[in-house]
Amino acid sequence: MSALAGGTAVVTGAGSGLGAAMCDAFAAEGMRITALDINREAAESCANRLVDSGTEALGRQADVADRASLDTAAAEVAERFGSCNVVAANVGVMQFGRLEDISAADWQWLLSVNVVGTANTVNAFLPLLRAADGPRHILLTASMAALVPTPRQGAYITTKFAVTGYGDVLRQELADDGIGVTVVFPSGMMTTHLDSSRAARPRELGESWMRDEDFEVVVATAGTGDDVITTADDAIHDLVHDMLAGEPYLITHGSRLDEIRARHQAIEDAHQRMRAARDERARQQPR
Ligand SMILES: NC(=O)c1ccc[n+]([C@@H]2O[C@H](COP(=O)([O-])OP(=O)(O)OC[C@H]3O[C@@H](n4cnc5c(N)ncnc54)[C@H](O)[C@@H]3O)[C@@H](O)[C@H]2O)c1
Repeated sequence: MSALAGGTAVVTGAGSGLGAAMCDAFAAEGMRITALDINREAAESCANRLVDSGTEALGRQADVADRASLDTAAAEVAERFGSCNVVAANVGVMQFGRLEDISAADWQWLLSVNVVGTANTVNAFLPLLRAADGPRHILLTASMAALVPTPRQGAYITTKFAVTGYGDVLRQELADDGIGVTVVFPSGMMTTHLDSSRAARPRELGESWMRDEDFEVVVATAGTGDDVITTADDAIHDLVHDMLAGEPYLITHGSRLDEIRARHQAIEDAHQRMRAARDERARQQPR
């Protein structure tokens, strides 16, 4: 029997793609599911699908950029399930384009959903995680693009770097509570990401825009391995295992080790130069 059986999972962006696949994976472990999405119909249909297959599930509309809507959902989870064992802060919206073309409104939207929305989700459900018995975990969806940054998606990548840093600090801050934090780095997935992002953008920030030219650059720099793109179900194949093992990071697919190494090597080299220069200056100090 799974260590998660009988526990409760809360997933944001659960109406589609990776979030929906996470709900299925947790349901397969015998968990009760709360599926949250800005798209009410999508959240409810995810929950209905799970209920039809014998899982206790709740589907609710919640906008992660709006803390109050998450607090309402958390109050309902507390009443219905008492606590929760897994919180997947999975929402992220996308805006392609050169950094110089990203408007203040674009930045506001991406940061408020991808970064503040992640913190809102964690903060709204942390009391319920602390109240739970058994395994307790937070999953944060970043992106391979935060490990291998490429052009024309710089604003999105900036937010996924932020999610990664947030996760690294959160893991240390929650270690004494016994709450694990795993940051998930997917490569391309066949989901509705661009359409759902466009649909979720608040009207007052103006229409979302996309240039074919930007899209072509993003595709051309997405890597060349045979696993750069996959389905959401395939991407979460190792999610439960790695989460329960307390792994800090999960790379779901997309073999880009050379690029990851090159970036880390440049950071290591910078550190070595600093150390050598400081040692040299110390040697030249008059005694
Ligand atoms: N699809 C990819 O290629 C890819 C690659 C790397 C990382 N990711 C990340 O995976 C995560 C899931 O994306 P996906 O590909 O499954 O997309 P998706 O479109 O299938 O699902 C995203 C869901 O999030 C919901 N959503 C959007 N804004 C919201 C908000 N403010 N509050 C609540 N829900 C909101 C949408 O309605 C949608 O149902 C995102 O964080 C994304 O950045 C996706």
